[in-house]
Amino acid sequence: MARIYAGLTTSHVPAIGAAIDLGKTEQPYWRPVFEGYEFSKHWVSQQPPDVVTLVYNDHASAFSLEMIPTFALGCAEQFMPADEGWGPRPVPVVQGHSELAAHIAQAVILDEFDLTIVNKMDVDHGLTVPLSLVFGQPPQWPCRVIPLAVNVVQYPPPTGRRCLNFGRAIARAVESYPEDLRVMIWGTGGMSHQLQGQRAGLINQPFDNHFLDTIGPDPEALARIQHLEYLREAGSEGIELVMWLIMRGALHERVRVLHRFYHVPASNTAVGHLLLDNQV
Ligand SMILES: [Fe+2]
Repeated sequence: MARIYAGLTTSHVPAIGAAIDLGKTEQPYWRPVFEGYEFSKHWVSQQPPDVVTLVYNDHASAFSLEMIPTFALGCAEQFMPADEGWGPRPVPVVQGHSELAAHIAQAVILDEFDLTIVNKMDVDHGLTVPLSLVFGQPPQWPCRVIPLAVNVVQYPPPTGRRCLNFGRAIARAVESYPEDLRVMIWGTGGMSHQLQGQRAGLINQPFDNHFLDTIGPDPEALARIQHLEYLREAGSEGIELVMWLIMRGALHERVRVLHRFYHVPASNTAVGHLLLDNQV
């Protein structure tokens, strides 16, 4: 039986990917950011997943504003790194897990969580930056990856509660898959940030730290945060944090926080990162 044994959250700031790709990780500005991932890199290398279900959002790379699925599951054999305007990132092709993805699609749809099935999709920094942060720069990614793209780009995105419950449905789906697979679930995006308008550059450290402290012990409290509160407190792009609740919903009710990292700034955002495992 497949099982989800751990979860990870991280920002997916595109400038982090550029810093890796351009060899700047040891520079004074970037070194503290990458040091914050050392614990998790080691932990994951010691307890490697067969598959990562990676929750992220597409940034108009695979989906334009002509078509915006709320939840889109990548069921393809592989996914090419997207060209986001300056060529694809020099990272390996992402190898999917079609069988498990198709099983998840069937299980959650029959569980009344409608999602879009995607059989061809390029993946942008939202997916590849987290892989780089955890796995570095290998010739091949060390595990299969199932992309789960969430609309947090155009109103209305899904609610935090919907995301938490969707995560629970994903866990039920994975655990009904007959093959023995070790699965991690990653929730990416956030934390507080705003890229445009008068409040561009907004970072709300109290809000971010409360979110980091609460998602382990009391995700229900975070599921009550409404869209407008995200907008006010975390900026126009802070809504990406609902994707962390999909990760959290896929873990057990009780979890251990193995690692917590928060750093300001990276580019014009706060960087937040957690590693959680299921408390048996
Ligand atoms: Fe993003």
